[in-house]
Amino acid sequence: MRQLEAVIFDLDGVITDSAHFHYLAWKKLAADIDIEIDEAFNETLKGISRMDSLDLILAKGGRENDFTLEQKEELAAKKNAHYVELLKDLSPADILPGIKPLLDAIRAANLKIALASVSKNAPMVLAALDLTDSFDYLADAAKITHSKPDPEIFLVAAAGLGVEPANAVGIEDAQAGVDAIKSAGMKAIGVGTGLVGTDELVSDTSKLTLAMIQKVFQI
Ligand code: BG6
Ligand code: MG
Repeated sequence: MRQLEAVIFDLDGVITDSAHFHYLAWKKLAADIDIEIDEAFNETLKGISRMDSLDLILAKGGRENDFTLEQKEELAAKKNAHYVELLKDLSPADILPGIKPLLDAIRAANLKIALASVSKNAPMVLAALDLTDSFDYLADAAKITHSKPDPEIFLVAAAGLGVEPANAVGIEDAQAGVDAIKSAGMKAIGVGTGLVGTDELVSDTSKLTLAMIQKVFQI
């Protein structure tokens, strides 16, 4: 019988608003190589790995054949330097509304908590938010071979917790992430607008509660 055992969270845009910093960092990098990106295009980058995001940006600017692999690695490193610079003042005050009490309530209910972020900066971001100890398991983005919408990172997170995917609920702000959760065989809660295929969609993180997660699991 299915039983709710774990909640698996995305990071960027769910735990903190770092999704916006990824956007600003990519926008700056893209401008350096004469490619303009806007927030609508940025939606297609959410949940996508660093190198895959760069490939999408180069394709958008018609520059997919203009750089060697080495040059692309330099561009990706430059974007990451912009991103890390934007994160330098990150503190627990930047945890999105409702998230800390939600993590505490999930733990108090003896359910497990994992992080499924394809960001290699995830451990540093969680540490800056003082949330590392709130998680039982962090899926290692460096070991993931397919970024979202592939289910790999959610399956790795469930396996790391020792729970069946069907006994977990995933929470995401990106369409690629919602698709990854559903492909992993979990119930999906979306945060934001315009996401399709969720089992429940809330406008912002303050609307997330343990009771709601339990209800979604029963759907
Ligand atoms: C995801 C973000 O969480 O991590 C993407 O939604 C980002 O925008 C990806 O590109 C990879 O992050 P990083 O920190 O490894 O460049
Ligand atoms: Mg996200």
